[in-house]
Amino acid sequence: MTSKGVRIAVNTGGGDAPGLNAVIEAVTKAAYKRNWEVFGVKNSYAGLLNTDELVRLTPEFVSHISNVGGTILGTTNRGNPFKMPVHNVVGDVEIRDVSDKILENFKRLRFDCLVAIGGDGSLEIAYNLYKKGMPVIGVPKTIDNDLRSTIITFGFDTAVSIATEAIDRLHSTAKSHERVMVVEVMGRHAGWIALNSGISGAADVILIPEIPFHIDRICDHIMACELHGQHYAIVVVAEGAVPAGGRIIHKGVGETGRQDVVLGGIADFLAKEIAKQTGKDTRSIVLGHLQRGGAPTTFDRLVALRFGAAAVRMIEEKQFGAMVALVPPEVKAVPLAEVIGLIKNVPIDCDSVKTAREIGISFGD
Ligand code: F6P
Repeated sequence: MTSKGVRIAVNTGGGDAPGLNAVIEAVTKAAYKRNWEVFGVKNSYAGLLNTDELVRLTPEFVSHISNVGGTILGTTNRGNPFKMPVHNVVGDVEIRDVSDKILENFKRLRFDCLVAIGGDGSLEIAYNLYKKGMPVIGVPKTIDNDLRSTIITFGFDTAVSIATEAIDRLHSTAKSHERVMVVEVMGRHAGWIALNSGISGAADVILIPEIPFHIDRICDHIMACELHGQHYAIVVVAEGAVPAGGRIIHKGVGETGRQDVVLGGIADFLAKEIAKQTGKDTRSIVLGHLQRGGAPTTFDRLVALRFGAAAVRMIEEKQFGAMVALVPPEVKAVPLAEVIGLIKNVPIDCDSVKTAREIGISFGD
């Protein structure tokens, strides 16, 4: 690879997160500054299988998209090229490894590097492609903030801000009706969104996957609030929270081609139990994809722009098979091998958990 004539492919994979467009903008602008070219791959890895829809990205094309939610390239959490559902000749769905085709197209199009913007699933695919010879740079995104080796992923701050605003709003209606409101937030198997929004939004109870909960202790806490003259309560529950000795609540396995289960339903389950045990009027709310929609916060936008520019710097330095990571005050390269396979959970003795306990929030433990 000579520095002149470098051709970068960029894709966005997995669930969208506010800030994806900011990375695309920064990658494109930083590459053009070096007289390089950038091409957008549509719909995660699908655009490297069917290459008809490659988008030539120019500084004009991406001008000020950093404040726009979603991704201009489209995304999916179903297109793993190593386990692709394909219809065989008799019309049945078969799982096949089509990664060779991806590599073949990548070479045919004379790309020098793939900038893969994604969460654990998409980055694992990127790493596997790297092991097969594709030069890749990973950029960590996810509202869940569950990726290791970076203190934060972009999208998380926006999700926490949206959840906090929702919790703030629920206080007044909960108070007016003297109700318990159970708010389910995203985060998969990590409790970061619930913890941060719950503390910021002055929840009474926060339930996270890292701390299994007991329903009777949640109810005891709600009744203690009652005794102190607070006739309403806010319970923030992470979608992946689990009752002690119980199981995660989910909506079943994902759609065809998706590896993970679709989480959800814990708020409804809890609301029923809390109403039964406390006799209080109780409602459940699922914030769902609202947490991923709309413009990124300034913080996320800035992190995403820094990640995009750092990714191009890493291409220049030929640091392939690595991911950009925020390790304050720097954005650094960390090996993808260190990141994938394991998630970053909330340490149960971290400062935020201590803070929550010290200001009177219960974890139901
Ligand atoms: O990983 C991001 C995330 O929003 C999770 O918090 C959530 O469980 C999942 O994606 C939802 O996936 P989908 O968009 O496929 O419903």
